[in-house]
Amino acid sequence: MPDRFAEVDRWIARHLLPADPILDEVLAANARAGLPPIDVSPLQGAFLALLCHVVGARHVLEVGTLGGYSAIWMARALADGGRLVTIEADPRHAEVARANFARADVVRRVDLRVGRALEVLPQLVDEGHAFDLAFIDADKANNPAYADWAATLVRPGGLVLVDNVVREGRILDEADDSPDLEGIRGLYAVMRMDGRFEATVLQTVGIKGWDGLMIARRR
Ligand code: SAH
Ligand code: DHB
Ligand code: MG
Repeated sequence: MPDRFAEVDRWIARHLLPADPILDEVLAANARAGLPPIDVSPLQGAFLALLCHVVGARHVLEVGTLGGYSAIWMARALADGGRLVTIEADPRHAEVARANFARADVVRRVDLRVGRALEVLPQLVDEGHAFDLAFIDADKANNPAYADWAATLVRPGGLVLVDNVVREGRILDEADDSPDLEGIRGLYAVMRMDGRFEATVLQTVGIKGWDGLMIARRR
C-alpha cells in the first residue's frame, strides 16, 4: 500500500500542478549539495501556498528552511509587499537556500535568519513582528517551545502549521520516548482546543510516507 500512496501522490501532482522547472532545479541543487530530501512534497507546497492565499498573508514565519523549497512556495504566495522570515540553524543549509531564493527570484521577499530558532524567535518578538501564518518544520524536540513562541508571534486569527506530527503512527509507541517523539506529543498538549489555539491534524500519505500536518488558528 505505501508504494501505491506514493504513486498516487505523483499522479495527482502530475495532473494538478503546473510544470515548474525552477522548483525542479531547487530540488536538484539540494541533492547536489547533499541536503537530506526532507522538503515538503509538491502537493504539500501547493497546500502551504493555498493557505497563504486564503489568509492573504503578507507576513509569514518559517522555522526550518533547509534548501528553501517550502519557503519558495510560500514566498510566491505572499500578498504584494509581503515578506517571509525563515530560520535555519545550519549555515550550510542556509547557503544552499540563499542560492535557491536567487534561482526562484524571491530574494526580495525572503528574510533568511541563520541561527538556532530558540535564539532567533525572541529577537523577532523584540522586533515587533506579527505574522499571518507560521510553518514549523525544524527539530521536532522543540515543537512545544516553537508552538509557544508562535502563540506570541502570530496575530489573532492567524494560522500555525506544524509538519510531521504523526510519524507513521510512532506517536502511539509508548516505548519510543526519543526527544523528537516527546516533542511531538508535547506539541499536542500546547495546542489543545481549550488553550490559545483551535487546532486539528490532517493525517497524510504520499511520497513522504504516512505523516500528518497540524493546522491551528490563533484565537
Ligand atoms: N521546511 C523545509 C524542510 C525543513 S527540514 C522544506 O520543506 O523545504 C528541517 C530543517 O530545520 C533543517 O534544515 C535543519 O537544519 C533545521 N533545524 C534543525 N534544528 C534547528 C533549530 N534549532 N533552529 C533552526 N533550524 C533548525
Ligand atoms: C524528517 C524531517 C522532516 O521535517 C520531514 O518532513 C521528514 C523527515 C526527518 O528528520 O527525518
Ligand atoms: Mg517536515
